Amino acid sequence: MLSDKNILLVIAGGIAAYKSLDLIRRLRDRGAGVRCVLTDSGAQFVTPLSVSALASEEVYRDLFSLTDESKMGHIRLSREADLIVVAPATANLMAKMAAGLADDLASTVLLATNKPVLLAPAMNVHMWEHPATRRNLAQLHGDGIASVGPEIGELADGEYGAGRMAEPATIVTAIEAHFAGFPADAAAPPRPLRGVRALVTSGPTHEALDPVRYLSNRSSGKQGHAIAAALAAAGAETILVAGPTALADPADVTTVHAESAREMEAACLEALPVDVAVCAAAVADWRPADTAPGKIKKDGAPPPIDLVENPDILAGLAADTEQRSALVVGFAAETGNVLEHARRKLERKRCDWILANDVSAASGVIGGDSNTVHLITADDTDSWPALSKAEVASRLVARIADHFGALEKTAAPVRSDA
Ligand SMILES: Cc1cc2nc3c(=O)[nH]c(=O)nc-3n(C[C@H](O)[C@H](O)[C@H](O)COP(=O)(O)O)c2cc1C
Repeated sequence: MLSDKNILLVIAGGIAAYKSLDLIRRLRDRGAGVRCVLTDSGAQFVTPLSVSALASEEVYRDLFSLTDESKMGHIRLSREADLIVVAPATANLMAKMAAGLADDLASTVLLATNKPVLLAPAMNVHMWEHPATRRNLAQLHGDGIASVGPEIGELADGEYGAGRMAEPATIVTAIEAHFAGFPADAAAPPRPLRGVRALVTSGPTHEALDPVRYLSNRSSGKQGHAIAAALAAAGAETILVAGPTALADPADVTTVHAESAREMEAACLEALPVDVAVCAAAVADWRPADTAPGKIKKDGAPPPIDLVENPDILAGLAADTEQRSALVVGFAAETGNVLEHARRKLERKRCDWILANDVSAASGVIGGDSNTVHLITADDTDSWPALSKAEVASRLVARIADHFGALEKTAAPVRSDA
């Protein structure tokens, strides 16, 4: 498909530069010739040796290198390509391109070119959402430069949101779409949940003993936040009801913060109706019967703590009411007999699916970045391998999209007004 095409790949200084090595391999597998320009910052992330070994070409780095100029100056570099791909495109390089700056080989080539350019931006979510980056991207699009991604998900810095470089396979699809005469958008990830309204709960709850003390659990919120981000990336109008976590609010998601189980329940009821509810929060089962108005003093014997049951948010959302969502998904965090307990929970709570996971200390799931889950439905158990929490989120969202696709085919009611 790409034989006879020459691609000039500019690799700038972002964590995602390692993915560009895979991109080079994929392009060469498709018969493309790949020449690479590496910025100084890019060379902090991948070595020129790896890049040149994969491209089978020397790597171009220095604007003023006489050797390079005698062999292949910046003008020739910029003109001999059929397409220039910048992956990762850093906020810095995009800013330089938008301003017409040319202070190193990469930016000079990009200014000197008369060939089409495709950017694969990659950066921290706040860099991506910064008004300066928005302005620069709009300018670059206005200048006829195409872009693919970024995707929404877990970022290298631990935050969730938009900023993850499009996967190499997606960039290749965008490149092929370009040569087939389609705009880069043709390769944009599909948004199968457009028109679906989703509710996700995430994180722990804090149940106050007094103004400074509370009962809680070790949930980090990473899995629930990843699911909310993945649902939004798939096009769902997503509301995240988040307990107290250290995580940033995911981009493109309406996030409501709740402290206690009762606040979380109220926020969920407020969000209804939704088409799909995913209850990933580790809601405290009990709360202190009384919350002391002032700090309990440490004098005498430790105070007894009477506990009362908290509302069961999952069971409430799954109950057979007028507002019940078409699909209610719960989590079962177990420390033993995971499948058995989870299946019983599915029946007891009357939800449609349960994602069961082992949260014993040895599993490292609580607070960690990976998860091993079993998706339990009324008549099936699907055990997934160990995956990152972002991958679990993507798989779950793909299953949800399949479910709604199947419902649509049987003309079941899926909201289409969002
Ligand atoms: C560890 C680390 C990771 C970085 N990741 C990114 C990134 O993903 N995207 C980005 O735009 N900048 C990132 N930066 C900042 C760029 O490397 C910096 O803006 C640099 O000047 C970019 O140079 P270049 O555009 O010439 O390659 C990162 C910096 C460091 C130290």
